[in-house]
Amino acid sequence: MSEDAVDIALSVNGEEVRETVEPRKTLVDFLRDDLGLTGSHVGCEHGVCGACTVRLDGAIVRGCLILAAQCGGHRVETIEGLSDAGEITDLQAAFQARNALQCGYCTPGMLLAAHELLRRGGVPSRAGIREYLSGNYCRCTGYQAIVDAVEAVAQARAGGQR
Ligand code: FES
Ligand code: FES
Repeated sequence: MSEDAVDIALSVNGEEVRETVEPRKTLVDFLRDDLGLTGSHVGCEHGVCGACTVRLDGAIVRGCLILAAQCGGHRVETIEGLSDAGEITDLQAAFQARNALQCGYCTPGMLLAAHELLRRGGVPSRAGIREYLSGNYCRCTGYQAIVDAVEAVAQARAGGQR
């Protein structure tokens, strides 16, 4: 650890964490390497693919574009936290039921983004779902099944059919 390492204290998935980090370490690398939370993935490393999506103070962000040193005093939630809390159980089930994943590399980020969209309430149009998820790249599925899954959950949450 270099001399200019930074001490940080933050909340990760509801638990207080204190660590010393290199000043240039990204949040996603910190989560994966230092905390073992490997559900957040690293793809492009420059804010394009969405694989590193996590929640910071309640809003989704790119974990590769934020430094861990910037997160002191803040609240970080990862796919592990949302999953353990049961917050996205319906989305996870819908993705599974509709084969909305193959390799799964994009899936954690996709689930966080989809959940963020659905938290706004209502049933977004398919075009709206596509647009909202356009910052999350999937190399495998062709997106159709992902949109199907998100739409189905939106309808179910809104008290509709399906
Ligand atoms: S790894 Fe962060 S957006 Fe691609
Ligand atoms: S399921 Fe493979 S990248 Fe999306």
